[in-house]
Amino acid sequence: MCADSSEIKGLKRKDLLGILELRREEIELILDTAISFKEILERPIRVVPYLRGKTVAFLFFEPSTRTLNSFNLAARRLSCDSVSVSASSSSILKGETLLDTAKNLEAMKLNFVVVRHSSPGASHILAKNLTSSVINAGDGSHEHPTQALLDLLTIKEHFAKFEGLKVLIVGDIEHSRVARSDIWGMKKLGMDVSVCGPPTLIPRDIEKMGVRVYYNLKEAIEGKDIIYVLRIQKERQAIGLFPSTREYIKLYSITEEVLEKYAKRDVVIMHPGPVNRGIEIAPSVADGTRSLILPQVTNGVAIRMACFYLLPGGEGREEGRVKREEGRGMRDEGRERREEGGERRDER
Ligand code: CP
Repeated sequence: MCADSSEIKGLKRKDLLGILELRREEIELILDTAISFKEILERPIRVVPYLRGKTVAFLFFEPSTRTLNSFNLAARRLSCDSVSVSASSSSILKGETLLDTAKNLEAMKLNFVVVRHSSPGASHILAKNLTSSVINAGDGSHEHPTQALLDLLTIKEHFAKFEGLKVLIVGDIEHSRVARSDIWGMKKLGMDVSVCGPPTLIPRDIEKMGVRVYYNLKEAIEGKDIIYVLRIQKERQAIGLFPSTREYIKLYSITEEVLEKYAKRDVVIMHPGPVNRGIEIAPSVADGTRSLILPQVTNGVAIRMACFYLLPGGEGREEGRVKREEGRGMRDEGRERREEGGERRDER
């Protein structure tokens, strides 16, 4: 896999709660590990035994398609068992708190808790009170670290660099945990980040994050390498913060026409999903040759495998190093598995 020796450097932290707290080297370690896992995902048999005997609990109290299923697949690809809790089918309905729910699950012997919750800081509370490694899968409009990591991996694969790349994040910045995590991650890796949207959807003081602010899309798009489109999050708006959807489309929708007139020829389009087709982005752009939307989703599995692999999962780390099972290197394990696969094919 990704190491020549029997030891792979792990993260020196128990939990993954946000991009803000990660050092550049930690981000790069996660990306490099994910690139190694992508190789495994291309194999005919996409399962490795690295987390055999470990268990993850998924606590998702907000809807999810991409994040939940890619975490789930990542766990399965690593031979990790899983249990799932949702607000609608658990004792949360009977008044049990999030923390009590998590502690009861941990009493059944867990290694990881992956949590999505509408309250900013929900994952921090669990992290403080559990011995399992907690991964934030989105907390309100605060952070969505694994989304930012998969976005960075997609950018790295396309451009083979970060330094100096110009990205424009367009849409509902105010309510977007993805925007916050992406801005922190992109800035840490040397990218030039701008945001654009209606004034009511741009947080006050966002310039303090080191980004440039535009209200006019046509000006904003010029010279950018990446346009990162965000969904209008109606579920997080207490009041309508823009006059009408029709007006939003007219001023901020990313269409072929806007790209043809104002964007660089080789600009790429990203979006975290779910996509509101015909609102923030035209279907032809979402499905077009410039779109990296599905590669982003593909990279989500490898990034989440890397996060599970690099976090301690409720077990101590020696100086941030993962002790491999019986001292065997990941590369050796991978080779053995390939050889086993070859033998099986030969037998047929
Ligand atoms: N990008 C993202 O978080 O998508 P889901 O809400 O489907 O998980």
